[in-house]
Amino acid sequence: MKVSVIGAGNVGATCAHIVAEKQIVKEVVLIDVKEGLSEGKSLDLWQTAPINYYNTRLVGYTNDYSKTAGSEVVVITSGVPRKPGMSRDDLISINAGIVKSVTENVVKYSPEAKIIVVSNPLDIMTYTSFLTAGKPKSQVMGMAGILDTARYRAFLAEALDISPLDIQALLMGGHGDTMVPLPRFTTISGIPVTEFIDEEELNAIIERTKKGGGELVNLMGTSAWYAPGAAAAQMVEAIIMDQKRIFPCCVKLEGEYGLHDIFMGSPVKLGKDGVEKIIEVNLDDQEMQLLHQSAKAVKNVMDVLDKMNIL
Ligand code: LAC
Repeated sequence: MKVSVIGAGNVGATCAHIVAEKQIVKEVVLIDVKEGLSEGKSLDLWQTAPINYYNTRLVGYTNDYSKTAGSEVVVITSGVPRKPGMSRDDLISINAGIVKSVTENVVKYSPEAKIIVVSNPLDIMTYTSFLTAGKPKSQVMGMAGILDTARYRAFLAEALDISPLDIQALLMGGHGDTMVPLPRFTTISGIPVTEFIDEEELNAIIERTKKGGGELVNLMGTSAWYAPGAAAAQMVEAIIMDQKRIFPCCVKLEGEYGLHDIFMGSPVKLGKDGVEKIIEVNLDDQEMQLLHQSAKAVKNVMDVLDKMNIL
């Protein structure tokens, strides 16, 4: 069994590394356009195998998609990352062309692969890949919700001085400042989060979560990679191992939550067939309003992409 990761930048290499360490496939193939980069990173990573005790073979190739043939899952991380002062949407024109051509190559050699998009702007790049791939919507999805929820859970764990393992949370909507963390669906070992924290402090954490990616761009001068790579690897594992896990992922909504033909974050069931179910939870009026506001922001950028006529 094989997983391919396209783009050997920080996010791609981190994802490949974590997938390899999970020992869930025989081979992880890393592909990049930059001569030698994926060969070098995969070789360096492979040399961690004897130290960290795993068998998964890591290999890298410059732009040779034939080596990805027969992949079960392909993670697309290609594209340019944000710099300080940029929004994810500023990347649209460059990254849409890249994601289109990567997707064409992916489906040429792995027509059955489940595709996980990580490139930004996330919801729009997932839409780009879906339009290009011509595959069922269950097989093309985006990684954002696991990352954004992880940030929310990490901030809560820190503020409350409790283990992040015990925090369950749900976050929906687009991967941008309009994302919708849902306190009503946040629990700590089954206890509502509101038993632990007052409204003001929780709201401050929600606001920090919404800008969590930007906080890291400002600190590092480029976008984050450890948590994004780990989040994509967790989706890969759920599919490869047919775990039927419930995660927030970017998917095509067709009527759920009263939203049509839009790609954005919703809870789903992930298993061997990809997105096996979109879960529709009962949102109250205020939550629904926030979700529709987020949908509007995503739709505006989808329209910008449509007007570019590159697909
Ligand atoms: C982030 C980028 C990867 O949120 O979108 O860090």
